[in-house]
Amino acid sequence: MGFLDGRAVVITGAGRGLGRAFARHAAENGAAVVVNDVDGEPARETVAAIVADGGTAVASVGSVADAGYARSLISLCCNRFGSLDGLVNNAAVGYHAPPWDDDAERARALVETNVLGPLHCGTAAAEVMCARGRGVIVNVTSGSMIGQRGAAAYSASKGAVASMTYSWAADLAEHGVRVNAVSPIAWTRLMAADPKGNRDAPPPERVAPLVTYLLSDLSADVTGQVLRLADGHLHAVRQPAIIRPVLHRETWTVAEIAAAVGGELALESPPRDRWTL
Ligand SMILES: NC(=O)c1ccc[n+]([C@@H]2O[C@H](COP(=O)([O-])OP(=O)(O)OC[C@H]3O[C@@H](n4cnc5c(N)ncnc54)[C@H](O)[C@@H]3O)[C@@H](O)[C@H]2O)c1
Repeated sequence: MGFLDGRAVVITGAGRGLGRAFARHAAENGAAVVVNDVDGEPARETVAAIVADGGTAVASVGSVADAGYARSLISLCCNRFGSLDGLVNNAAVGYHAPPWDDDAERARALVETNVLGPLHCGTAAAEVMCARGRGVIVNVTSGSMIGQRGAAAYSASKGAVASMTYSWAADLAEHGVRVNAVSPIAWTRLMAADPKGNRDAPPPERVAPLVTYLLSDLSADVTGQVLRLADGHLHAVRQPAIIRPVLHRETWTVAEIAAAVGGELALESPPRDRWTL
């Protein structure tokens, strides 16, 4: 008996790293998996590994940044496995550059994969899931969503994924569809490309149970959450919220704003490392 027996899920960027671990774990737990990746060989290797373990999977090669392809990816799952129970929006790219060296084309390509990719796959999946009145979307965000030096484009894309998660969770709850996000840490190709990457990061397999949990009925009451599993630490991440006090005047002058910001609003300075536990 697996936690995902009889379910059909699409996992993007599942040819390597975290996506491959998520796909293998979901398959070990009974799911039939559509393994997407923009690179064909790694996608086929993931499928072969799942099949060798006795699981069910099919590869789909294409870029999630292409809206037409995203729709066909979702259709493939419905046509091949008869349903779409889950979508894991995992595919992403990263790069590091100080603000003065950031490159417009590179930033555009990153946003197309990291923001439009999950948006295209998620909207195509939402249509199918809403019609069925059930389904689960798991997005993959990052601790960098709170700001990471030398990685503004990547950080912004992961902040966008968190915002997408909160928006869809609100939109889709009444249609029986849950939407959450995970914030992982793992030693992968993406982490290895980070000049300050954590060489002691655990293998991607350690994060996979969190994704399987969110895809399963064990999390039936959980939506709109970002759950972080990093170096063995499991915790929730708070959604940005209004900080009290909230001051009110009909009109505000520059001097009044300056006085409020310097006084009653009592701004906290951004902590140097907000992920310190
Ligand atoms: N590794 C970490 O510590 C870490 C930390 C925080 C968040 N993440 C997130 O985890 C996810 C997986 O990252 P990873 O570390 O496994 O990276 P990875 O580079 O090992 O794997 C990403 C996979 O996505 C594929 N991909 C890239 N662009 C694609 C596209 N347009 N369409 C389809 N597939 C595409 C790649 O070919 C690759 O196989 C990403 O969303 C990343 O932002 C990773």
